[in-house]
Amino acid sequence: MKDKIKVLFVCLGNICRSPMAEGVFKKKLEESGLNGKIKADSCGTSDYHIGQQPDDRALENARNHGIYLDHKARQLSKNDLIEFDLILTMDQSNLKNTLILDFEDKYADKVKLMREFDPEDQGAEVPDPYFGGEDGFEEVFRILDRSTDRLIEELLEKYGIK
Ligand code: 4NP
Repeated sequence: MKDKIKVLFVCLGNICRSPMAEGVFKKKLEESGLNGKIKADSCGTSDYHIGQQPDDRALENARNHGIYLDHKARQLSKNDLIEFDLILTMDQSNLKNTLILDFEDKYADKVKLMREFDPEDQGAEVPDPYFGGEDGFEEVFRILDRSTDRLIEELLEKYGIK
């Protein structure tokens, strides 16, 4: 089996959706003893917030769900396409901007929408909560919570992890 399966969550700013996805996913990995087998990170397609910690509303929402977000925003690079096994983008714009870095058309199979794993609305976008209120962050959390459950099930099956 592979050494470690690497999953990357991608949004625009890397201060709201993708650090929340990383946080909820990592918590589930820890709770199920999978953190030695599956690794996660997040980044943004833009350079707007490089080096910043997550948005206060993302931090608070996560804290309310028992999750501590420990992340500094960074921008997606070409190397991420090589390094990660699965790259999950929050919306169509992130998907497009990620695939732009795939100059040689080699990595598209690894790049998917996060909500391909949403049992309730497969293939929809994770809405950008940045310009809205706290409700938007709770909605994002609920989407990510159920999508990461399915994601973990599929990773276990795909890689034959017991
Ligand atoms: P994120 O949200 O992509 O979920 O981190 C955003 C953060 C910042 C901006 C837009 C979306 N912005 O325009 O600065």
